[in-house]
Amino acid sequence: MGFVGNELNSTTRAMLAATRAPLARANHAPGFIYTDAAVYTAEKDRIWMKDWIAVARIEELAQPGDYLALRVVDEPLLLTRDHGGTLHAFANVCAHRGVEVAAGAGNAKEFMCPYHGWLYGLDGRLLGAPYMKEAAGFDPARCRLPPLHCEVWQGWVFVNFDADPEPLARFVADFDADFGFIRQQELAIAAKLDIVLNCNWKLVVENAMDKYHIGTIHAETLSYGADHTAVEFWLKKRGMYGTFFSFAPRFNDHRPLFDRPMASLEDKPLDFAGASFMAPNFQQFYYCDNVECLTYWPLGVDRTRLYVYLLFPKPFLDHPEFASRIKQYTDTETRVFEEDRAMVQSLQNGVASRHFRPGRFCRMEAPIQHVINYYTERMFEA
Ligand code: FES
Ligand SMILES: [Fe+2]
Repeated sequence: MGFVGNELNSTTRAMLAATRAPLARANHAPGFIYTDAAVYTAEKDRIWMKDWIAVARIEELAQPGDYLALRVVDEPLLLTRDHGGTLHAFANVCAHRGVEVAAGAGNAKEFMCPYHGWLYGLDGRLLGAPYMKEAAGFDPARCRLPPLHCEVWQGWVFVNFDADPEPLARFVADFDADFGFIRQQELAIAAKLDIVLNCNWKLVVENAMDKYHIGTIHAETLSYGADHTAVEFWLKKRGMYGTFFSFAPRFNDHRPLFDRPMASLEDKPLDFAGASFMAPNFQQFYYCDNVECLTYWPLGVDRTRLYVYLLFPKPFLDHPEFASRIKQYTDTETRVFEEDRAMVQSLQNGVASRHFRPGRFCRMEAPIQHVINYYTERMFEA
């Protein structure tokens, strides 16, 4: 079973076809897409190195010299803002032997590779390479950190590893048409959670669009203030989905957390809410006064990092009770994600079991079917 030599056997093809059937007759996806190391390797080429990936918020790189180093499916990535204010993305791979020239986040004038001391500017150019005069024909001017495409949409920094990607504006056009009115460029990070889960990244993506589980495992944390069973979704090409629903503010006695909605939603009711996903790693939840965004970072076939950004209007960050009020939110969200952790890690064991057979979809799982079918189409031309 599964994905041997990039060929699918007939049993596997039949299982993928069963996932593509109309929702009322369809089965969930076969387990191997979450457990097979060869699938994980192929995802890197077919998805992660092709698509625009949401990597950071612009306020994480606000000042000249700010930098942020990440790994995208093992590929080292460095984001910088140079002294002229230009944002750059590079493969974080030294031109000597490949060591990552920067780690973590901070502010720097330049980067010195920690191994042999080659020195790079914020624009990725090699500024110096000690003891290299005897290397015949070696020209530092021809060495640099490999540049990557980097563009910004509404305060979100997107990177593309492909040599010739479509413009970001085209990639996000459908998404922007549905959710651009929220104007996330007017928001800033109020809090950011870093969560590592022992399961495949797609199980985390699916879990966050799964309304079916809210009434059970989140009965105490989320299952109030709305009928989660009555949600209508719209499903678009490229595995995008969106929904609007009603959900009363959760804190501050069911008023906006800092007493006012965000400017772009002032004409909406206070129980305005929505959710969306743009493949491969950008999932968002909208409320009257904040946007909660999840970005996904595969760390291995059965390990995933999840960043949870809580974005509020910039002026709200100066509220006198900012710290205590935002703590209510982060404490509750941490509890919700711990409830999810137990499930997604058990799912990983379950889909790896020799006894696992994909079961039927519930109508509330429509976004999962849509997103996973787009994935299998990209991966297997299924
Ligand atoms: S690997 Fe960077 S200086 Fe040698
Ligand atoms: Fe959940």
